[in-house]
Amino acid sequence: MTQKKHAFVIQGLAGRKTLSGDIPVRGAKNDALKAIAASFLFEDTVIVTNVPDIADVASLITLVKDLGVKTSRNDREIVLEAPKDSSTLFDTHLAKMLRSSVVLTGPVLARYGKVSFPHPGGCVIGARPIDLFISSFEKMGASCVIKDDYYHLTTTKGKLHGADIFLDFPSVGATETLMMAATLAQGTTYIRNAAIEPEIQNLAHYLVSCGAQIEGIGTSTMKIDGCEILHTRGKKYVVIPDRIETGTFVLLAALAGKNVTITHCDPTLIRSLLSLLKKAGVCFTMTEDTITVSSTDTPYRAVNVRTNPYPGFATDIQAPMTVFLTQAQGESLVFETMFEGRLNYTEDLQRMGADIVMFDPHRVMVRGAVPLTGKELEGPDLRAGLAYVIAGIVATKESIIHNVEHIDRGYEKIEERFRALGVDIQRVQE
Ligand code: UD1
Repeated sequence: MTQKKHAFVIQGLAGRKTLSGDIPVRGAKNDALKAIAASFLFEDTVIVTNVPDIADVASLITLVKDLGVKTSRNDREIVLEAPKDSSTLFDTHLAKMLRSSVVLTGPVLARYGKVSFPHPGGCVIGARPIDLFISSFEKMGASCVIKDDYYHLTTTKGKLHGADIFLDFPSVGATETLMMAATLAQGTTYIRNAAIEPEIQNLAHYLVSCGAQIEGIGTSTMKIDGCEILHTRGKKYVVIPDRIETGTFVLLAALAGKNVTITHCDPTLIRSLLSLLKKAGVCFTMTEDTITVSSTDTPYRAVNVRTNPYPGFATDIQAPMTVFLTQAQGESLVFETMFEGRLNYTEDLQRMGADIVMFDPHRVMVRGAVPLTGKELEGPDLRAGLAYVIAGIVATKESIIHNVEHIDRGYEKIEERFRALGVDIQRVQE
C-alpha cells in the first residue's frame, strides 16, 4: 500500500486566544478497533456505529477482510460478518501496521482454535511487549511456538479453557483480548488486576447484551463464564466518544480559545484532566455531552502530572498537556509511568523555545510560561504529532509539521475541524 505523504502548515496565533465555535468529538479509535475484533465472537452480522473515519480503522478492516471477514461501510457505520472457517494467519505487513492487531488474537484463537501472527507494530513510544498475552493464552490451554518471527498458538481440541489470570500490569489490550477469548472458552476465567478503561467497559457491556457472561465490568477483577458463539440479533455496537480527542480539544481551547465548545463528548471520561485544569485555573462549564472553555486574563498555574491507568491521567493526553504546561506559570513535573519513549518529543518543544529539562526517559520538568516559536517538525507518533499541531497554533510565526500520516491514524480530518474554530492550518502534499 503506497501512502501519500502530507504536512500541515500552520500560522501561529502568537499566544492570542482567538478561537471560537464548536468542535465535535468523533467515536473513540480505541473502542472502534475492539468492536471490529469482537466480530469474530459472533455467528451473525455485527453493526458498529459512530465509527471514526481514520487510518487505523481502515487498516484493521483490511486485516480482518484478509482473514475472511465480510465487511461494508456506510459513513459512520460498518457491518462485519466473520466466516465459519476463517484464515488464522495474519498478514505480516498489515499486522505490523498497527499495535491493535494483537487484540484480534484472543477472539480468533477462541473461535477457530489457532492463530499465527507477527509481533505487532504501532507507535514508536517504547518497547511494547506481548508477554502478558502469550502467558495468559498458555494458561488457557494454548501452546505457543515462535518460528520465523511469527507466534503460532494452537489449542488441543480446538477450544481454550478457563483460567485464573493475574496481569502483572493492567494492560488495556491484554484485558480486552483475554475477555473476548474467555467469552468463547470452556469454563470460568478470572482476569485479576484487569484494566478498566471506558472502552473496555463499553465492549464488555455490548458482549453481555448479546449473551456473554461477564461479571465485574469496570472493576479490577473480571469473572467470565465461557459460552457458545454469540448472536447480535441486530443489536448495534455504539462506539463511545473519544476521550483523548475530548481532552486534547479542551487543552487547545484553554491555550488558544476565546470561547470554544467541545460537542458530542462525555465529560465524565476525562475527570482526571479536568480536575488538573481546574487547579491550573482553566475556566470551563459542562453539560452531559459538551464542555465549553472560556478565556481568562489570569495566567494559568503549573500543575504536576503523572500518567496512570484509567481513571488516572491518560498517557495519550500527556503530550498535549505538556504543551499546555509550557504556557502555565511555574514549574510542573511530568511523570510518564507507562511508556519509556513517550517524552522524546519534548526535545522538539525545546527547539520551539519551551523550557523543559529531562531527568530520565520517564520524567521532565517544564518551566513556564515561555512563548513558543514556529518550527519545522517531524511528527514522531500519533499523540505527539497532534501535540505539535497545538504547539504550532500557540507559537509565533509558521510551523510545518511533517508525517501527518501518524496523526491521520487516529484523528479524523483534524485540520477541517480546527479550521472551523479559526485555526490557520493547511494540508499540503509532499
Ligand atoms: C492501549 C491504547 C493506547 C494507550 C495504552 C495505555 C489501544 C488501541 N491503544 O494500548 O492508546 O496508550 O492503552 O493506556 O487501545 N505491557 C506489557 N506486556 C504486555 C502488554 C502490555 O508489559 O503483554 C505493558 C506495555 O509495555 C505498557 C503497559 O503495559 O508499558 C500498558 O500497555 P497497554 O495497556 O497494553 O497498552 P495497549 O493496549 O497497547
